[in-house]
Amino acid sequence: MQPIMAKIGVFDSGYGGLTILEAIRKEIPEYDYLYLGDNARAPYGTHSFDVIYRYTLQAVNYLIEQDCALIILACNTASAKALRTIQQTYLISRNIGIPESRRVNVLGVIRPTVEAVPEMTKTGHVGILATPATVSSESYVLELEKIAKSQELRAKSLVVTQQACPMWVPLIEAGEHTQEGADYFVEKYIREILAKDPQIDTLVLGCTHYPLLIEKIEKSLKSKVESQKIQIIAQGELEAKSLADYLTRHPEYREQLSTNGTCTYLTTENADRFAQSASQFLGSAIQAEHISF
Ligand code: DGL
Repeated sequence: MQPIMAKIGVFDSGYGGLTILEAIRKEIPEYDYLYLGDNARAPYGTHSFDVIYRYTLQAVNYLIEQDCALIILACNTASAKALRTIQQTYLISRNIGIPESRRVNVLGVIRPTVEAVPEMTKTGHVGILATPATVSSESYVLELEKIAKSQELRAKSLVVTQQACPMWVPLIEAGEHTQEGADYFVEKYIREILAKDPQIDTLVLGCTHYPLLIEKIEKSLKSKVESQKIQIIAQGELEAKSLADYLTRHPEYREQLSTNGTCTYLTTENADRFAQSASQFLGSAIQAEHISF
């Protein structure tokens, strides 16, 4: 069977995955990428497991139909709520009887992020800012507890504090995140998490949209603690390095991938609006296409 020259699919509920895509393309620019933002149904983070799973599976199926051999769920909410079930049920049955050169895999963003925490924290007090769905899944808490048993964190007592930030993704999707009005909600969630644990020294932005609010987050932190006291973990570079490493270890996927250095942008919302906002976030002009499932 001739191998299909495949792409890397990058999926998010909306614009947030662009923060991951940008870092990945910096690290491994040679591959061809297909970005899919389900902007019409964002935010995902306030939905139930069933809804998030169904939406994510539709997106994964769509990207597979477009010849993506590897799909990155550049969305913590989808990674927390849908990734395991997709890997353990859907992908296993899909890949049965398929030669290695045609297999498909789906990867998430939570594990590569969690792996960076032990080196960063000195106190063991870690804060997680995420969507309500990611927080309720406890994925970060469980993954951190797993690696705490096996790594440097063993000696420190690990204290994980989560904060749901339900208003941040809607502000970004509406293009309101740079406006003064957004300050209120940035202040609110930063104040709440620091009140729960004032000893936090490492703050994970556990939603791929949140780096788009980084200036306001840093400003808010600075007004409350000495700025050097809290380190912020954003996911782009971590995910990019993890994917590059994955591809060196998995020639069965690497060899399926075409290498023309292109990127196509798809959205379930209005293509012009997506292109305009994405061009602003990425700092260079892009075109987008509308799709529906
Ligand atoms: N970027 C998604 C994440 O990382 C946002 C989810 C949402 O749409 O609420 O969780």
